[in-house]
Amino acid sequence: MTMLSLLVTAILVKSALCSAPSGPWDPFNLAPESRTVYALAIHGVNGTVLDASNLVGEKGGCAILAGDGSYVTLDFGYEVGGLISLNVDETSEASSLALSFTESPLYISPLTSDDSAAQSANMSYDGVLYLPTPLKIAYWTMPPARLRGGFRYLTIVSKSVSSVTVSNVSLAITFSPHVEDLRDYMGYFYTEDPTYFDADFLTKLWYSGAYTVQAATVAVDTGRQDPPVQSPGWANNATAGIAGPIIVDGAKRGRAVWSADLGLAVSTQFVSTNDLVPTRNAISTLFNEQNPVTGELPYSGPPLSEQGSDTYQAWTLIGTYNYYLYSGDYAWLEEIWSNFTKAMQYLENKVDDTGLLNVTATGDWGRLWQGGLNSEANAIFYRALLNSAEIATYMNDSTLAATYISKATTLKTQFNKAFWLSDEGMYRDNTTSTLCPQDANSLAVLFNLTMSAEQASSVSAGLTRYWNAYGAVSPELPDNIAPFIGAMELQAHFVSGNDARAMDLLHLEWGYMLYTPISVQSTLLEGYTSNGSLYYRSYDGYNYDASFTSHSHGWSTGPTSALTFYVLGLTVTSPMGQTWAVAPHTSGLSFAQGGFETPLGWFGVEWSLDGANFTILLEMPKGTNGVVTVPIQGSVSLDGQKVDVEGDILVTGGNHTIVVYN
Ligand SMILES: *[C@@H]1O[C@H](CO)[C@@H](O)[C@H](O)[C@H]1NC(C)=O
Ligand SMILES: *[C@@H]1O[C@H](CO)[C@@H](O)[C@H](O)[C@H]1NC(C)=O
Ligand SMILES: *[C@@H]1O[C@H](CO)[C@@H](O)[C@H](O)[C@H]1NC(C)=O
Ligand SMILES: *[C@@H]1O[C@H](CO)[C@@H](O)[C@H](O)[C@H]1NC(C)=O
Ligand SMILES: *[C@@H]1O[C@H](CO)[C@@H](O)[C@H](O)[C@H]1NC(C)=O
Ligand SMILES: *[C@@H]1O[C@H](CO)[C@@H](O)[C@H](O)[C@H]1NC(C)=O
Ligand SMILES: *[C@@H]1O[C@H](CO)[C@@H](O)[C@H](O)[C@H]1NC(C)=O
Ligand SMILES: *[C@@H]1O[C@H](CO)[C@@H](O)[C@H](O)[C@H]1NC(C)=O
Ligand SMILES: *[C@@H]1O[C@H](CO)[C@@H](O)[C@H](O)[C@H]1NC(C)=O
Ligand SMILES: *[C@@H]1O[C@H](CO)[C@@H](O)[C@H](O)[C@H]1NC(C)=O
Ligand SMILES: *[C@@H]1O[C@H](CO)[C@@H](O)[C@H](O)[C@H]1NC(C)=O
Ligand SMILES: *[C@@H]1O[C@H](CO)[C@@H](O)[C@H](O)[C@H]1NC(C)=O
Repeated sequence: MTMLSLLVTAILVKSALCSAPSGPWDPFNLAPESRTVYALAIHGVNGTVLDASNLVGEKGGCAILAGDGSYVTLDFGYEVGGLISLNVDETSEASSLALSFTESPLYISPLTSDDSAAQSANMSYDGVLYLPTPLKIAYWTMPPARLRGGFRYLTIVSKSVSSVTVSNVSLAITFSPHVEDLRDYMGYFYTEDPTYFDADFLTKLWYSGAYTVQAATVAVDTGRQDPPVQSPGWANNATAGIAGPIIVDGAKRGRAVWSADLGLAVSTQFVSTNDLVPTRNAISTLFNEQNPVTGELPYSGPPLSEQGSDTYQAWTLIGTYNYYLYSGDYAWLEEIWSNFTKAMQYLENKVDDTGLLNVTATGDWGRLWQGGLNSEANAIFYRALLNSAEIATYMNDSTLAATYISKATTLKTQFNKAFWLSDEGMYRDNTTSTLCPQDANSLAVLFNLTMSAEQASSVSAGLTRYWNAYGAVSPELPDNIAPFIGAMELQAHFVSGNDARAMDLLHLEWGYMLYTPISVQSTLLEGYTSNGSLYYRSYDGYNYDASFTSHSHGWSTGPTSALTFYVLGLTVTSPMGQTWAVAPHTSGLSFAQGGFETPLGWFGVEWSLDGANFTILLEMPKGTNGVVTVPIQGSVSLDGQKVDVEGDILVTGGNHTIVVYN
């Protein structure tokens, strides 16, 4: 970057971003118009509840709950989170009222909420939230510490034979507290998918991921107390980091910073809201707690602040790179740079004399058998080395950049020697294993550890052996479908040019998550079992209750950025998009449009495929430049002028039309 462009950048960063254009994609935006929302429907009543339907919407009418155990379950229609308020209009000395919450309708109960607080197979831990007795005729709001971060269903239950009359049940949304208009996105995506039962699926999924990340962006003092301080019950009044708002792993739980989650959620944020400060606060929180002697970073934020994961150490460094690439926040990069290099050194110290990372801190995303010369960890470390080289260049340290690149080059050679099983056409888990894991194979393609296009395609094909009717079952975490790793696989299919396979995986895995009636049909599950049931990480030593699973988890939102980066084809290749690339993957679709705003301006792409002709309209900020790769062969024109294409077309900022015709 030149001095002038840095100066321009500094000025632009301060200016407000403009919103994405409106259009037929707006109805798919799940974020509510107001921070105060009301139930959309009555899910059910049991016992004696009169006029329950008065509790739907902003009506003001009353409902009467009569009899011990009578209850009404309100359906907010999609994942929400925050503080419930209601009016108690008539009551007696002996009346008693309680609330329970759940994401999945499977756990609707007048006795307990779904599990958010306890790391045990004890679903009854969360329990119900009692209103203080004796009940007063008053407008009541949940105590802030008892904020419920993620739910779709609210059950109001009478806990006494004496009846009670309530009205005006509302929810104050507490997530993304710094955002005035939750629907005001800086990016959009729109297409139609004629091959799936719901042609709007891909557009819905894009917005589902965006909203999932918004729901996991919280005020810093609303982290989850872990271990629980309230017994029974939950408390979301822990300090989750050094500054807020902050991005955490999930809306209901764990409501803590988790490093690997950032590897994906930051890209979702970038293409949708471009609200990156919560990510900066999360990464700063991890750097702030760095071990000053070893350079090790915690892999989760407070109150957990656990250490002991080489893979997550590398994900934090990759997340740091992504944050800088998207934000151009050079001042922050300078601030954390010495901590960053120290964190890299911590990993470099574990490299053996062949050039491979020997994992000794074995914490990971839940998989089994991490440790030693592990291929997944080496793939992530390879990416961290290359990202670090680029950051070192921005930091004017060309010597260090060269060192990182040289280490990466050696690693790539050794990786292929140590892990490639030619009989399988895939990579193995470690040097004494024959297991071909989903994570390492997906990452090897995504991060370009493969040596040829054929090898990448072989891995892409090999990964389908783990597919069943619900998604891709990770052999390294048997019986589990892990959308965090699924998102790596999704990108690997696009990167290797196997777009149809990427679409199949979207339909299988994310189609299941978005439409299954056992989830929230809005935000995305943390994980589930190979038969589609709710349970995740059965093998990590904890005996979780199935209801502990999060239905709104940032690490499952990979499709949002994948649809923008691959299907639309739009990526930035230097900070904030001073340089960019457009390389659409048509993937069986006839059109796609979308884009995003950065401090440099609006980056818009619209493409359509009509018979054998392909047209692409670009609207890029002045002063930027980029490379366009067209997805089909033919004669090419740029703004009406025929161009000779041997591969890529160089284009400057402004509005352009490129046509490929046959
Ligand atoms: C409904 O209420 C009845 C009696 O009050 C009780 O026996 C039954 O278990 C309740 N059903 C559910 C699903 O809670
Ligand atoms: C489950 O939690 C409740 C509330 O804390 C407690 O009373 C009960 O003993 C626990 N049950 C088990 C099996 O741990
Ligand atoms: C009804 O609830 C809304 C939202 O919480 C609140 O602003 C309003 O004051 C309540 N109405 C009454 C009469 O208390
Ligand atoms: C958090 O909330 C719980 C009540 O659920 C309370 O006991 C505790 O003191 C609160 N802690 C802080 C730090 O406010
Ligand atoms: C760097 O790490 C030290 C602890 O090793 C910490 O005190 C400091 O806050 C960190 N710096 C930044 C910018 O995070
Ligand atoms: C990895 O490091 C550990 C601890 O230093 C050592 O015991 C082990 O032999 C190393 N493994 C390999 C494959 O180099
Ligand atoms: C290598 O992977 C196998 C499973 O395929 C596992 O049993 C073994 O523990 C792993 N080795 C190390 C050093 O972790
Ligand atoms: C790197 O060089 C640029 C251009 O000379 C300068 O503006 C910037 O401050 C330098 N960065 C550091 C960390 O020295
Ligand atoms: C992938 O790596 C090869 C070297 O093995 C390199 O030539 C190629 O440019 C890389 N591809 C990308 C997209 O970085
Ligand atoms: C689905 O898988 C879970 C976890 O392995 C198991 O407990 C359950 O019995 C299975 N359900 C069916 C219908 O097979
Ligand atoms: C494709 O473009 C060519 C050249 O402009 C035109 O003759 C032809 O009709 C177009 N085909 C379609 C299907 O629009
Ligand atoms: C580019 O196209 C957009 C949308 O059609 C339009 O609003 C804008 O003014 C155009 N910009 C230039 C520089 O022509």
